Amino acid sequence: MDVKASWFIEYESVADMKFVLEDKDVMKGKWLHIGSGSNLLFKGDYEGVILHSAIRGYEVVDENAQEIEVKVGAGEVWDDFVAYTVKNGWYGAENLSLIPGEVGASAVQNIGAYGVEAKDLIVSVDAMEVATGRMRKFTKEECCFGYRDSVFKKELKGKYIVAYVTYRLKKLPSFNLEYGNVRQELGKRGDKLTLENVRKVIMAMREAKLPDPKVQGNAGSFFMNPIIPRERFEELRGLYPEMPHYEVDNDRVKIPAAWMIDRCGWKGRQVGRVGVHSRQALVLVNCGGAIGDEVMALASQIQESVFQQFGIAISPEVNYI
Ligand code: EPU
Repeated sequence: MDVKASWFIEYESVADMKFVLEDKDVMKGKWLHIGSGSNLLFKGDYEGVILHSAIRGYEVVDENAQEIEVKVGAGEVWDDFVAYTVKNGWYGAENLSLIPGEVGASAVQNIGAYGVEAKDLIVSVDAMEVATGRMRKFTKEECCFGYRDSVFKKELKGKYIVAYVTYRLKKLPSFNLEYGNVRQELGKRGDKLTLENVRKVIMAMREAKLPDPKVQGNAGSFFMNPIIPRERFEELRGLYPEMPHYEVDNDRVKIPAAWMIDRCGWKGRQVGRVGVHSRQALVLVNCGGAIGDEVMALASQIQESVFQQFGIAISPEVNYI
């Protein structure tokens, strides 16, 4: 989206973050802290201050024969961190290869792909309280992670800014290959089971389905996969025996929104300057020159038709600003 902010402020250290947050002139009006903006949809120009972290660096903070803990600056590019873990032979982050965005947002959004979520790796999050400039270490439990969710998006929204995230990786081989066709893809390529090869397969799978935001405007999955009561799923399964689903717990299952959107006939459709990606129905794309309103209008039409056909409400993963 071709949008502008009144101000853009980037800081490189915790001390500088405090300095910015204590500046009454900067913080008196509207402000928004972003990562790389990969999950945001701006309705128009932002009449306020955009804050961005450029706190960088990797620091090994703990280590034993089995595991290693690395504290990472919120401003590091997420996939650079994944590449770093793979290069060092540490297991755990490889399924999250190529997710756009930065380390700070990995904790806010609890990013996930191919059966792994950031919460599976996170030990703690160091964040600054906006009101006081005080640093606080959140344990993983205090982060209240859920599916694409955390305390930083809910109760503490706008109250804390992430400065560092500490992740725990494994030193001994441990893979997650059971989601979708990760294992089959690896087999098809005849590749040996190594960290590098799993990263390569994940990257190839993403590149085959998901448009590169640097080439075509998109925010990855536009909607979250809805979690519905098991009874409701059993009813729907009567009507749609082929309906894919993922187990959540005894009472609930997660239904792929992409499958429902696809079944409603949206995949590959273009409406004016926006459209539904032709290889992954969960991704809305800017076909050139689109504005936020057009994307939101398409999103509502899709939500309506999924609700009409399946009686399931789907909600955006993308944040409207
Ligand atoms: N499907 C369709 N039509 C499509 C696409 C998918 O019927 O156009 C079906 C597939 O056949 C499959 C199911 O829907 O049975 C799920 O598809 P897929 O495995 O591609 O994943 P997803 O549920 O659509 C989620 C995440 C992605 C993540 C992938 C892989 C959410 C909202 N999205 O998508 O995350 O990369 O799984 O793990 O949970 C993101 O959050 O931005 C994101 C890209």
